[in-house]
Amino acid sequence: MDALVDAAVSARDNACASFSGFRVGAAIEDAEGCLHTGCNIENATLGLTVCAERVALFKALSEGVRTFRRIAIATDSETLTPPCGACRQLLWEFCGDVEVILANLRGKTESLRLKDLFPRPFDASCL
Ligand code: THU
Repeated sequence: MDALVDAAVSARDNACASFSGFRVGAAIEDAEGCLHTGCNIENATLGLTVCAERVALFKALSEGVRTFRRIAIATDSETLTPPCGACRQLLWEFCGDVEVILANLRGKTESLRLKDLFPRPFDASCL
């Protein structure tokens, strides 16, 4: 398996998903080839939930990483899980048109480009 997908699958084990039961793992590969992982984190307010993609992205950004190549998102769904709208916005602004790899635990994967998932974005070029 691709090490990036493998990292997303492993990160999923740490999900704090006791409210939805929907565990998500994400891994982002930076321009140096380093991997940054995240899982979804839910809490009793529900509304303060943070998706796995944003946890991975914010961890990397907080370490000073600014250039990214790919992100993998892993769930246990037969229908592969794409990033939510909020995550697409942040991934676009900080990662640009990266490769987005969707994966499940049975080895099913799909590779997409973020620009196809998030056409006509609002970003700094609009200001
Ligand atoms: N979730 C993610 O972490 N990433 C996605 O791409 C879709 C949704 C989480 C948020 C929440 O904890 C749970 O999945 C159900 O929506």
